[in-house]
Amino acid sequence: MAEHPIIAADEVWFAYPEADWALRDVSLRIRAGEYVAIIGPNGAGKTTLAKQFNGLLLPTRGQVRVLGQDTSSLRPRELASAVGYVFQNPDHQIFAATTWQEIAFGPRNLGLSEPEVRARTADALARFGLKKVADAPPAVLGFALRRKVALAAVYAMRPQALILDEPTGGLDWDSVSEVKSAVAGLHAEGHTIVLITHDIALVAKGPERVILLHAGHVLLDASPREAFGRGERLRIAGLVPPQITRLAQRLAPCGLPADVLTVGEFVRAYAGMHSTHGQGGGGVA
Ligand SMILES: Nc1ncnc2c1ncn2[C@@H]1O[C@H](COP(=O)(O)OP(=O)(O)OP(=O)(O)O)[C@@H](O)[C@H]1O
Ligand SMILES: [Mg+2]
Repeated sequence: MAEHPIIAADEVWFAYPEADWALRDVSLRIRAGEYVAIIGPNGAGKTTLAKQFNGLLLPTRGQVRVLGQDTSSLRPRELASAVGYVFQNPDHQIFAATTWQEIAFGPRNLGLSEPEVRARTADALARFGLKKVADAPPAVLGFALRRKVALAAVYAMRPQALILDEPTGGLDWDSVSEVKSAVAGLHAEGHTIVLITHDIALVAKGPERVILLHAGHVLLDASPREAFGRGERLRIAGLVPPQITRLAQRLAPCGLPADVLTVGEFVRAYAGMHSTHGQGGGGVA
C-alpha cells in the first residue's frame, strides 16, 4: 500500500508581501520516519519553507500537502497533530504564565481529556528536564531552558513530524548535547524529524538526508555523505563540509576514504590503513 508522504511540496513559490520570492519552485517529499536536515545560509528560506510544512504560511503558488491533504484546506488543529513546528526563536512561541501551562496548552487545544493533558505535560516536563521549572513563568527562564520549553510544548502534542528550526542555536556545548540526544531519541521512537541547522557537524551525525537551500531554491537533496562530497555546491551557498571530512578529503591521496563523516569513521579508516602495526580505532564515537 502506497502511503502518503507526511509532507509533499510541489512547485512551491512564496513571497512575503511586497518582497521578492523567498521560495522558488521547491518540490520535495518527506516520508514517515525520515530524519532530514535542511541547511543553507542566512536568508536562504529555511524558516519560510518550514512554516509551509505546518500551514503557518501558505504557498503563493504551488501546493503543500500534509498526509495527502492540501494545507490550505486543513484546520490548525488537524495540522498540529501531524506536523509540529518548534520556532527558531523560542520567544515567538512562548506566551503562558507558567511552564506547565505552556506545555499543557497544545494537548488541551487538541481536545484531549484533562487526565491525558496532565499525563502528556508531566511526561514532556520530565523528558526535557523541566520539572523543576514547571511553576515558573517560561519567559523569565534562561535561553537554553526557554528552548527546551518550546521543544517540550510541541512534543507534548505528539506530532508525527517535528520541524526543529535551529534547535541548538545560541546554546552552550552541554545544552547542544542535551538537545542532540533528545532529537536522536525522538527519531529512534519513530518521529519524523526535519532539523534546520547552521551546524554542519550536526548534519553528519543523525540525519540520513540533507536538503541545501540557497536563495529560496533547493540546490542539493542527498545523503550527508554525498552532499559533503559536493563541495562546489556547498561553496555556492557559503558552506563547507565538516572539518573531519575536509581533513579526510585532503588525505585521500594517501589512501583515506574521502567521504568520512565523523571522527570515529576517520579513526577506523586510519587504523585500517595501519592495521599491520596493530593500531585499533575502537572506542571513538
Ligand atoms: N516577515 C517577513 N517579511 C518580509 N520578508 C521576510 C520575512 N521573513 C523573512 N523574509 C525574507 O525572506 C527570505 C527568507 O527568509 P527566512 O527567514 O526564511 O530565511 P532562513 O534561511 O530561515 O534564514 P536564517 O538562517 O537567518 O534563519 C529572506 O530574504 C528574508 O529577508
Ligand atoms: Mg530561519
